[in-house]
Amino acid sequence: MTTAGTAQGAADAHIDQRFVAGFLGDRAALERYEQEVRASRLVEHLERQAEVFWSTVQGVTTRGHRYNTGRVTGRAGYGEGIRLYAILRHLRATVAVETGVCNGVSSAFLLLALERNGGGTLHSIDLPEFTGEEYDAGAFWEGKGGAVVPEGKEPGWMIPEHLRGNWELILGRTQDELPPLLERLRSIDAFVHDSEHSYECMSFEFGHAWRTLRPGGALIADDVNVNAAFAEFAAEQAREPVPLGAKMSFLVK
Ligand SMILES: C[S@@+](CC[C@H](N)C(=O)[O-])C[C@H]1O[C@@H](n2cnc3c(N)ncnc32)[C@H](O)[C@@H]1O
Repeated sequence: MTTAGTAQGAADAHIDQRFVAGFLGDRAALERYEQEVRASRLVEHLERQAEVFWSTVQGVTTRGHRYNTGRVTGRAGYGEGIRLYAILRHLRATVAVETGVCNGVSSAFLLLALERNGGGTLHSIDLPEFTGEEYDAGAFWEGKGGAVVPEGKEPGWMIPEHLRGNWELILGRTQDELPPLLERLRSIDAFVHDSEHSYECMSFEFGHAWRTLRPGGALIADDVNVNAAFAEFAAEQAREPVPLGAKMSFLVK
């Protein structure tokens, strides 16, 4: 991303350096992956979708949180997206699982990588919150922020049409849907957590995903700073976390 000379640029450069040293091993590989994403015009597509989002939901709040897309769009978010893309490309992944889709920004980068790998499936689980809808107390976990899907749109609506052929979306709670999904898949190349960031849910997802990950596969999590679940899990597995963003990180099995 063109963030050179800015505070975001310095943060991105530092994360890229640790990402290359801790995983890719080769700076040129990251540049090749960045170039592939740039050539796809995915970022421009997502920018247009983000404008649609903000034109429909601006300024409104839910349970005291301002409505948001669920992912930082703009350069910080797309830097993370490119690193997600690079992980799946580097692993030559064909089977990936993610929890937490919302409008589909991370899903789009993962699906682009699978397409470029020659095919495969992204299996995603999401319990969406829609703007303008009334929910019972307890419908979502108590720490949930303002990540919402605009009324009239489907979860993942930002994903480009041509990438949807490799996508399976399961609507429901990860606590119910993840174990049977992983049992069905038997082995996965990568897992991405971005759903309920409670200690209990993150620990639950990491335990199930790790058992199903193939050796060398990646366990990726967003919001690793909100509680001790990721740090504890990394220590238990004796793995060194590799950063992907300000609060996104991953472990290699
Ligand atoms: C932070 S957003 C995901 C953002 C997405 N990864 C992206 O990059 O655009 C979190 C999503 O997880 C959903 N969610 C919250 N609790 C969940 C649960 N228990 N099971 C599944 N999804 C959940 C939220 O409603 C929301 O759609």
